[in-house]
Amino acid sequence: MNASRPVVFSGMQPSSDSLHLGNYLGALVNWVALQDDHDPIYCVVDLHAITVPQEPGALREATRRTAAQYLAAGVDLDRSTLFVQSQVPAHAELAWVLGTLTGFGEASRMTQFKDKSAKQGTDATTVGLFTYPVLMASDILLYDTQLVPVGDDQRQHLELTRDLAGRFNSRFGETFVVPEALIPKESARIYDLQEPTAKMSKSAQSEAGLVKVMDDPAVTAKKFRSAVTDTGREVRYDLREKPGISNLLDILAATTGRSIPELEAEYDGRGYGDFKKDVADAVVERLAPIRTRTLELLEDPAELDRLLAIGAERASERAERMLRTVYDRVGF
Ligand code: ADP
Ligand code: NA
Repeated sequence: MNASRPVVFSGMQPSSDSLHLGNYLGALVNWVALQDDHDPIYCVVDLHAITVPQEPGALREATRRTAAQYLAAGVDLDRSTLFVQSQVPAHAELAWVLGTLTGFGEASRMTQFKDKSAKQGTDATTVGLFTYPVLMASDILLYDTQLVPVGDDQRQHLELTRDLAGRFNSRFGETFVVPEALIPKESARIYDLQEPTAKMSKSAQSEAGLVKVMDDPAVTAKKFRSAVTDTGREVRYDLREKPGISNLLDILAATTGRSIPELEAEYDGRGYGDFKKDVADAVVERLAPIRTRTLELLEDPAELDRLLAIGAERASERAERMLRTVYDRVGF
């Protein structure tokens, strides 16, 4: 909320279950750090979520649960704007205008749409899914966003956002900031504990290798005890030969702030058992307070709604200002 700090926008899908350790170490830790010297806008994107069918009660609950985990992990309402997308109507309103500047062919070339619609078939595929990237452009452009943290899967959508911003500006006059991708300096990539060559993901086939923020600490410890390693005995970083051990070293380094060489030296000549136990302890120490705080926040839905309403009000103020400018330029 400090005008001199670069604006960062990031959206997260509401999820009924739990964030996992990959989301936490790979994304959320960065989001929390960005608060020190950026002006972050964090949005639970429930409008995006309904591009696939949702049960209304479950969606409402998932939205709260997701927001609660971000707050519990350190998203700070004094330094960030955290809100729910559907509570700020300007997102849908600007998306309509941007949709009229988006080519049908251009939208048809979005690979994520092509993949998802090919899987679902054209009758199950909604127009909402087709225009999803236009809504994402609206999310970003409403706030004079300079930086957008994006994974590989969102890169093409950010390119579309940049194209739409430029197109609007050249047709109607300088209005939007053209945002850049924010690539974190170094960000942990976490692998499945049972299948350490596969990225840890909520869509994992089995939960045994998926470490969840909302798991009971005893469950987390058990998942680490059962983590796949190898038949050797050396705690050594080697992604090719020792993916399981390397993943555990990355997790321990990320949770303790210690370097890999330092950790290799510490476990030199000791067995995997000690090492796995220490990784489990370090992760539990980080996640347990977040889980506890999330459960507290969920126990008082009225208070959580109040916090989200404050976020929505702040976001609306900024978004409405941009929307009024856009409407004026367009001739409304
Ligand atoms: P998932 O892959 O489980 O579906 P999402 O696609 O919802 O997770 O990702 C949410 C955020 O978490 C993104 O910023 C993504 O880059 C990050 N993320 C997801 N999985 C991992 C992982 N295994 N390691 C590091 N970061 C991850
Ligand atoms: Na994903």
